[in-house]
Amino acid sequence: MSRPPSRAERGAASKGEHVELGECPVVSYPMQRQDPFHPPAEYEALRAQAPVVPARLSFAGDRPAWLVTRFKEAREVLADTRFSSDSRLPGFPVRRAHSTLIRMDPPEHTRYREMINHEFVGRRVAELRPVIEELTDRLLDAVAAGPARSDLLPALAMPLPSLVICHLLGVSYADHVFLQERTADALRATSTPEEIDEAVADLGRYMDGVVRSKIDTPGDDIISRLVTDHVRTGACTPEVAADLARLLLVAGHVTTVNMIGLGILTLLQHPDQLDELRRNERLIGPAVNELLRHLTITPSLARVATQDVEVGGTLIRAGEGVMILLSSANRDEREFQHPDAFDIHRTERGNLALGWGPHLCLGAALARLELQIVITRTLRRFPSLRLAVDLDSIPFRHKVNIYGVHELPVVWDE
Ligand code: HEM
Repeated sequence: MSRPPSRAERGAASKGEHVELGECPVVSYPMQRQDPFHPPAEYEALRAQAPVVPARLSFAGDRPAWLVTRFKEAREVLADTRFSSDSRLPGFPVRRAHSTLIRMDPPEHTRYREMINHEFVGRRVAELRPVIEELTDRLLDAVAAGPARSDLLPALAMPLPSLVICHLLGVSYADHVFLQERTADALRATSTPEEIDEAVADLGRYMDGVVRSKIDTPGDDIISRLVTDHVRTGACTPEVAADLARLLLVAGHVTTVNMIGLGILTLLQHPDQLDELRRNERLIGPAVNELLRHLTITPSLARVATQDVEVGGTLIRAGEGVMILLSSANRDEREFQHPDAFDIHRTERGNLALGWGPHLCLGAALARLELQIVITRTLRRFPSLRLAVDLDSIPFRHKVNIYGVHELPVVWDE
């Protein structure tokens, strides 16, 4: 097998800094966080080094992949359809189950996205405000009725997103405990591969049953409209409709749970900004945007190049894997002033916490609205809310894809 030419052999005539993937110096990814509210400190040096850096993925037998470190290039790669989301392709950097939509590329992706996009646009989502407020208040009522100490993860952060999505999908509230538990099993870091497969299969079977029942008796919900407009017309099979419904359930669950938990914790760590938010609830929009940027709980996204592409002066060859470091891009000093500061008055609005390009989070408007409502109403209900334990005792989700907290023990004055 012929060896690829070295950088020296390619010589000065080569355009840009043509480092080969696997060439030295190579960093090992992922790195550990030193501080629970900040990405690994090494990211700053990586951003200074280059927008695209060769690395080895320690979780994948040290397989080589590129890290995209800066904001501009991260956005560029996410918008470029020469980079694929299809985890079945050789070279895809991480092991992920195939899924309708999120693991598809245009034009197939576009076809499925168009089937449900209109359900999640801002105007439609805004109409859900009263429902989300009522669901939030019910959970807060139950918390307030108990002792003046609670773990807000199981009491509030975990049930709310699944109650909201059950409402949207037209799935029985009675089933939300089952769905929430199976979703958590599917996503838990300590679950074995067999447990994950079993939980995913359970959710799939459940959604299959829901889709079939809606074919017979449609209601006023997303699955019914999917069935009526696309399954009955033959544009989409019942299996794909069930897979889409399962994705909606799972994609919006662990993310929103952890943004609620980590978001409230972050505000408790910044009492001045928390007080300001209490006094002026209209700051909640920018505050949620800044929480999304600062925390970037989906720290990276994976892609594989389907053609040779030059990004930030580096040639990424067809078949090479790429990890887009959202949590580094969202701290890029080229894009954000004092990027490590948590500042709800920040004027730069755009960030990559919800992705970018064709796969931009479908639930972005819904996630923002849920976060705005749950944070505002929790602060209003518990004016003396504070952590029940030292920050050091809070268990952070260090070993999982989506960052957050496992528990959020709080107390308040009755
Ligand atoms: C704060 C909470 C959330 C965060 C941080 C988040 C983050 C993200 C990110 C980063 C992506 C891009 C994935 C990629 O490009 O590979 C994404 C996609 C997606 N999200 Fe969210 N998300 C959140 C809430 C939700 C909610 C509530 C829903 C419910 C509908 C949802 C549904 C989806 C779907 C279906 C996709 C795939 C879109 C596509 O492939 O076209 N997300 N999300």
